[in-house]
Amino acid sequence: MSAAQILIGGKWRTGTGERFVSHNPVTCAPVFEAESAAPDEVAEAVAIARKALESWADVDLATRIAILRAYRQELERRADEIARAIADETGKPMWECRAEVGSMMGKVEISIRAVSERAGERETATAFGRAVLRHRPHGVMAVLGPFNFPGHLPNGHIVPALLAGDTVVFKPSEETPSVGRLMAEALQAAGVPDGVFNLVQGGRATGQALIAQEIDGLLFTGSAAAGDYFRRAFIDRPEVILALELGGNNPLVVWDADPEIAAQHIVQSGFVTTGQRCSCARRLILPEGKAGSDIIAAVEALAGRLVIGAPYDPIEPYMGPLISDRAAEAARQRFSALRGKVIRPLGDVADRPRAFVSPGLIEMDVATWGEGEDEEIFAPILQIYRVKDFDLALRRANATRYGLSAGLISSDPGLWTWFQKKIRAGVVNWNRPTTGAAGDMPFGGLGRSGNHRPSAYYAADYCAYPMASFEAATPVALTGEMKGVRP
Ligand code: NAD
Ligand code: SIN
Repeated sequence: MSAAQILIGGKWRTGTGERFVSHNPVTCAPVFEAESAAPDEVAEAVAIARKALESWADVDLATRIAILRAYRQELERRADEIARAIADETGKPMWECRAEVGSMMGKVEISIRAVSERAGERETATAFGRAVLRHRPHGVMAVLGPFNFPGHLPNGHIVPALLAGDTVVFKPSEETPSVGRLMAEALQAAGVPDGVFNLVQGGRATGQALIAQEIDGLLFTGSAAAGDYFRRAFIDRPEVILALELGGNNPLVVWDADPEIAAQHIVQSGFVTTGQRCSCARRLILPEGKAGSDIIAAVEALAGRLVIGAPYDPIEPYMGPLISDRAAEAARQRFSALRGKVIRPLGDVADRPRAFVSPGLIEMDVATWGEGEDEEIFAPILQIYRVKDFDLALRRANATRYGLSAGLISSDPGLWTWFQKKIRAGVVNWNRPTTGAAGDMPFGGLGRSGNHRPSAYYAADYCAYPMASFEAATPVALTGEMKGVRP
């Protein structure tokens, strides 16, 4: 029997569902082994969250803020342990894992600010009394997290939801359950009342059991395929709020720049986190001719100098493995299916397990443009397109059903003005990598990248609904307001 790994109503217990295991992609050793939450346990977690909502929704904001600030302190106390859990389950370099814990801690104050700016209270005097704007919690929120930022991204739903007065049932990614466990411990230690936050563990079946319950919202960060599934699954449940933060097939246009500097921005856009960021550039759009060729040569050279290694290696790596051997096999197959001139194959890494890959670069065959699949490849692969003018660069950049991030590298402000007016994406950067996002800005995408409910600073918007009221202390005659009434 495994250790108790699910948290329902403030009590830790062992699930009775299927056993599942997360693996360290560096050592291939198991990190977490437990029974998943069975459907009846998931139902119980939602029922308990519903019960807890009655009092949590009425707790005053100052108390909720104090508890979330205590959570921040609990994260700080466990920072090293959480960073190591992220490293063990994802293989990400320690510098990234520590930064992720920093983002989790920073989220608390940012979310407190966001609540007051975007979901606060406002009152204006009227002839009869006042007009008041308040925000009320939606209810029980199901949170499903991805593996690539197993702490930061679900935290970005959970903190705003709890602040808004919602209660939460969280299912971490099956690849990263131990990070979810540590978050639950920190929330419990911070004094989040029993039942207000609940943790269920498991894979997709557990996720499906969760969305089948009477939830009021699904706060999801993950793949577009899962997003499609949820859109269909909730088609007859319009009362459930869906916030879908999905993938992208993101373009980076590099037009005029010193090739060495451009290469740094390109590598950081395409290969950081081993290409496993939703904001990573997947398509690199360059001018035809020498300018573009020089940039490709510089990217190839820089890609060859990246240290690829494990989190605790004595030499700090730039990037680690993909999440699993299976993910790496899928990426290898997707790379081989691309048609064009291979500049760097998606290579193996000597003396490392199959989950390790080196970045792949391919110049796409012009004849096949528009025929290939418009899909995210969640791996360090850049597909290069060469175009003869900027108008074509923009068209190519917009030639996608997605619309998450995009970037322009150019010192021409006129091109930037043109680019930011025409590009269709939610995160659009100029002379900065496509990756990385400001916590105090919204983060979300168009088209297949989401459903127009951006997260990060705007998470406050989907965690509460606005309630507008006209108020008078006592009913008075509607003199002058009612027309057409006989005396
Ligand atoms: P995923 O969609 O495979 O899984 C995410 C979570 O959803 C997991 O907990 C999984 O168990 C659950 N899930 C998946 N399909 C389900 C289904 N049909 N029913 C119930 N539950 C289901 O995503 P992943 O592989 O963990 O994460 C990588 C993806 O996330 C990439 O596509 C990436 O672009 C995207 N992502 C988006 C953002 C963003 O903010 N837009 C940020 C990070 C990652
Ligand atoms: C991502 O790129 O996968 C998420 C970025 C963020 O929210 O910081």
